[in-house]
Amino acid sequence: MLRRAIAIAIAIALPLALALAAAATCATAPAGPGAHVTRRPRSCHLKKPLVGVGLACHSSTPTSSSSSTSRGLRVDATGAPMAASAPVADLRSEYLQVLLSRRRDLQVPLSVEQGSPVKEPMYQGDGRPLVPSEAMESCPRKEVENFTDKLVEENFYLITESGEQGRVPVLLLRLNDPAPKRKPVVVLLHSSYKCKEWLRPLLEAYASRGYISVAIDSRYHGERASNKTTYLDALKSSWKNGDTMPFIFDTVWDLIKLGDHLSAREDVDPSRIGITGESLGGMHAWFSAFVDTRYSVVVPIIGVQAFRWAIENDMWQARANSIKPLFEGARADLGKSEIDAEVVEKVWDKIAPGMASQFDALYSVPLIAPRPLLLLNGAEDPRCPVPGLQEAVSRAANAYEEVGAAEKFMFIAEPGVGHRMTVNMVKEASDWFDRFL
Ligand SMILES: *[C@@H]1O[C@H](CO)[C@@H](O)[C@H](O)[C@H]1NC(C)=O
Ligand SMILES: *[C@@H]1O[C@H](CO)[C@@H](O)[C@H](O)[C@H]1NC(C)=O
Repeated sequence: MLRRAIAIAIAIALPLALALAAAATCATAPAGPGAHVTRRPRSCHLKKPLVGVGLACHSSTPTSSSSSTSRGLRVDATGAPMAASAPVADLRSEYLQVLLSRRRDLQVPLSVEQGSPVKEPMYQGDGRPLVPSEAMESCPRKEVENFTDKLVEENFYLITESGEQGRVPVLLLRLNDPAPKRKPVVVLLHSSYKCKEWLRPLLEAYASRGYISVAIDSRYHGERASNKTTYLDALKSSWKNGDTMPFIFDTVWDLIKLGDHLSAREDVDPSRIGITGESLGGMHAWFSAFVDTRYSVVVPIIGVQAFRWAIENDMWQARANSIKPLFEGARADLGKSEIDAEVVEKVWDKIAPGMASQFDALYSVPLIAPRPLLLLNGAEDPRCPVPGLQEAVSRAANAYEEVGAAEKFMFIAEPGVGHRMTVNMVKEASDWFDRFL
């Protein structure tokens, strides 16, 4: 029913650019540079979250986390029926099941351990970037007298499952505010090989403006890495053993747990938790917001991409090269002379099941509606090719239109920009949070 409604909406309501994009689903021409999807403000009917993912995770077990009756009526991880809008609830519940399927011990209660500032953060790959990011430095700040004195830094660990990787290092910054007041939060997520400390300029900028800003180390990064190859080692091990999901998914589990923690804090307004990130962090923001509706304003930066489209259109190379040793190993295991689309597909299916199929951008991104969503990409980004996003963007635009929230979705592909977070993107993200969070 929903699908038919969307199809009708496509036919009658889309602006020309998007209608064309939808018609030419697999066209190779990029969407117009700087293509914007904007709508005039209208009243928005915020729907109740369909699946209480955070709560659902507490008491679940792998076998009882979700199931369907013979008539296909789905229940969520707590056993509560998910009656509303079946396709939406089903996909979230399916994704949650994938996350649950590789948890070591589901009964670990969420707990907090004290941490301390990291003096020498771990940068993998080529090591610590020599210059701080100009883009991050440019993030709007508010002049606060005696800022450093007023800045409160919290370092702690969230225990999200058993085992070494079940301990999530968190860095939280906020202004010491004598008036007790619940504040909005922005969760900021780092790119591959970096760590939470890298994000400090952004964290401080948001904190200066009254947000609580939060960063975590992704799985196998920062404090969760013991050497320069930990992340790549984990990816390779996942391909061999299929017991973990180091690419995106396991960190999404952590971010659901972070949502639990943040929502329960006395200084946080649980209805105002935003999430953003760069590159790998953008992917984390996208999947977390898809599965966990508590993330109420969402800005993935150079992260959203169409994994299936890339395989089918011979555009997977740049993405594969960003974690090449993984694909090299798989190529050898599969007895092939070079990495090809089949190798890429097999790797994704093994290490991130469903990422290049049922949870791909065109299905998962529209489910972020009606929460304000800004997608920021480089028009020439070979890792996140914009032509591959046409269908996801037009479906998302429709989903927002459907619920009367068209102005809460925007896609910006910055002309002439490759896989890089720009000053402009940092500003757009910042404005989006100020406007909607
Ligand atoms: C800033 O710090 C100085 C020196 O400690 C102090 O005299 C001043 O009152 C502070 N200003 C504010 C606004 O806190
Ligand atoms: C790096 O750390 C990983 C675990 O984090 C370990 O498996 C691997 O053997 C280590 N490699 C080196 C070169 O020490």
